Amino acid sequence: MIEYLDWDTKFFELKVGRCTVDSDLSWSTAQVQAGDGDFKLVYIYSGYELSGSSNDCFHLLDVGGQIEFDKTPLAHPEDQETGRNISSYRSLPLSPAICHLAYTSGRLSRFRIDPHIPRTKYESLYATWVANTLQRHPFGSVFVYQMDGHPVGLITFEWDRSVCTIGLLAVLDSAQGRGIATKLIRHVESFCMRRRIGKLRVKTQLSNLSARSLYLKCGFVVRERSYLYHARASSLGDKSVSLL
Ligand SMILES: CC(C)(COP(=O)(O)OP(=O)(O)OC[C@H]1O[C@@H](n2cnc3c(N)ncnc32)[C@H](O)[C@@H]1OP(=O)(O)O)[C@@H](O)C(=O)NCCC(=O)NCCS
Repeated sequence: MIEYLDWDTKFFELKVGRCTVDSDLSWSTAQVQAGDGDFKLVYIYSGYELSGSSNDCFHLLDVGGQIEFDKTPLAHPEDQETGRNISSYRSLPLSPAICHLAYTSGRLSRFRIDPHIPRTKYESLYATWVANTLQRHPFGSVFVYQMDGHPVGLITFEWDRSVCTIGLLAVLDSAQGRGIATKLIRHVESFCMRRRIGKLRVKTQLSNLSARSLYLKCGFVVRERSYLYHARASSLGDKSVSLL
């Protein structure tokens, strides 16, 4: 069954859906449903690697898979310097520095590596992501890490009563390898402890080895992994490029 994605459809200005398949056979069935429903782009999640075929009416693009991690938040005593460097960010419109961090966070994102999606659309998507999190206040928040008065790290997260989900996380290239991402994650953990939120969750690309290593080092465990594809109606051909 293809789930219609309203937000994505409006953002990309073409009909977008999502579905989970578990074999090449269910991928064939999904294509018929996607064609009947006039979907132009479908995000396909699969526990198996799909082969696709030249006869398919939807072209599959492997966008790198995804992996989801969970952890039970722990209290982390924060030193004074970290406390001074991390602050809540609330300004709209976003500053150029925050936009730059948002784009950095999606460097390996499927929306960046899909050649049908122009760079400007990708950047707009990631900036909108931060703005949407701010607008979900009091259930969404953004923290930045400052060095010498400049933001060099960013983390966004949203929560309900039981789960807090990290959305974007980035540290500028020039500031990486100094424990800044670890401090930002710990800051969110402390936030969860204060709110008695029992689960912290985050997703990244299977191909993002540095983020995967970071999450394991911070005590997360793998919850789920899946192959991920962008399927496009073949009849659109190159027209889909201009639609986006
Ligand atoms: C991933 C990222 C946030 C890490 O930020 P950081 O501040 O450099 O991370 P830390 O210094 O806290 O690193 C902690 C651990 O993460 C892992 N790690 C971080 N960078 C790594 C790299 N380039 N290669 C391998 N492991 C890495 C290591 O296990 C590291 O521990 P160590 O220093 O003892 O080896 C940063 O590289 C980044 O912004 N990347 C681009 C955007 C991105 O991928 N964001 C995550 C999307 S979900």
